[in-house]
Amino acid sequence: MTQPSRRTRLLSGVQPSGKLHIGNYFGAIQQHIAMQEKGECYYFIANFHALTTINDAQQLREHTLDVALSYLALGLDPERAVFFRQSDVPEVTELAWILSSLTGMGLLERAHAYKDKVARGIPARVGLFYYPVLMAADILIYRPTHVPVGADQVQHVEMTRDMAGYFNNTYGDVFVMPEAQINEATKVVPGTDGQKMSKSYQNTIDIFAEGNALKKSVMGIVTDSTPVEDPKDPTTNTIFQLYSLVASEAETAAMAEKYRAGGYGYGAAKKELLGKLDAYFAPARARRKELEKNLDYVEQVLQNGAQRAREVAHQTMTDTRRACGLI
Ligand code: ADP
Ligand code: TRP
Repeated sequence: MTQPSRRTRLLSGVQPSGKLHIGNYFGAIQQHIAMQEKGECYYFIANFHALTTINDAQQLREHTLDVALSYLALGLDPERAVFFRQSDVPEVTELAWILSSLTGMGLLERAHAYKDKVARGIPARVGLFYYPVLMAADILIYRPTHVPVGADQVQHVEMTRDMAGYFNNTYGDVFVMPEAQINEATKVVPGTDGQKMSKSYQNTIDIFAEGNALKKSVMGIVTDSTPVEDPKDPTTNTIFQLYSLVASEAETAAMAEKYRAGGYGYGAAKKELLGKLDAYFAPARARRKELEKNLDYVEQVLQNGAQRAREVAHQTMTDTRRACGLI
C-alpha cells in the first residue's frame, strides 16, 4: 500500500442503505475520518447507487440524512473534507455513459458484487449490472490518487482502472489511475452471531445504539457452552474481538488474561464490553443529538460540499467532452 502523502487526494462513497453499524465504523468510517488529516478528501453519500436496492423515497431520504449525521457526529470536518450527496453532482451520470460506451460486457459480467447481490435475491436490473460503471465515473471524475474501501470493493476499483485505461488509450490522458487502499489494520468485524457483521445478516450493533437497544445487542452475542470455570481462548471469541476494538491495549490484555485463567464467564465479559462500547461512542451520540436539532446546518454542509465537488467535476468533464469530441 502506498502511504498517503500531503498531495494525496482520497475519494470514497458510502451507500445510504441502512443504519450504520460498528463493522462499518471500524472497517471504513474510522479510516475515512483519520485520512482527513493526511490528504485532500472527497466523501460522498452514494444515493444514486442506493436506488438499485431502495425504491421508497422517504426511506432513501432518511438513510441519506442518517449517513450525513453519522459522519459529522463521528468527526468528519467539513472544513477539511469535501462531503456531499452523489446526486448533487449529476455530471457523474454523463461520465458513466461515456465510460460505458468503451466498456466490454465481459468486464461487468465478471463483477462479484453483482453476482452476489442477485444470488441474495436482489432483482437483476440493468442499474445493478451497470453499478460498477457509475462507480468508476464517481471515482474518475474527482481524479483521486487513492480510494479507501473495504476488501469487497477492491474489484470495483480495479474495474475503474480498466475503464480509465480504455478512455486514456482511446482519447488521450484525461484520467488519473486511482489505487484502492484497504484498511489493513482492521480485519473483518464479527457480528453478534460470529459471522461478518452486516446489515444483511441482522447481526449488527448500531454505532448510535444506546440504553436497552445497545444492551440487547450485546447480551445477544452468541457464545459457546464452555462452563464459567473453564479457561477460554480469547482470540476466537466474538465478545473479546469486539472488546479489543473499543478498549485500550492494557484493558484488552487484562481481559485476555481473565479468559485464559478460567472462572470468568461470557456474561461478565459482555457486561465489560457493554460498558466500553457505551463509553466509546457516547461523545459521537451527543454530537449527533446536537446536529439533529440543526438540520439546516447539515443541509448547508452537503450543499457547500457539492459546490466544491462540482468545481472539480466540471473541469474533468470539460476535458472529457473535449477529448471525445462532444465539444
Ligand atoms: P453491509 O455489509 O452492512 O451491507 P456495506 O457493504 O454497506 O455493509 O459496507 C460499507 C463499508 O463498511 C465497506 O467499506 C465495508 O467494507 C465496510 N464493512 C462492512 N461490514 C464490515 C465488517 N463486518 N467488518 C469490516 N468492515 C466492514
Ligand atoms: N460501492 C460502494 C459500496 O457499496 C459505494 C461507492 C459508490 C463507492 N461509489 C463509490 C466507494 C466510489 C468508493 C468510491 O460500499
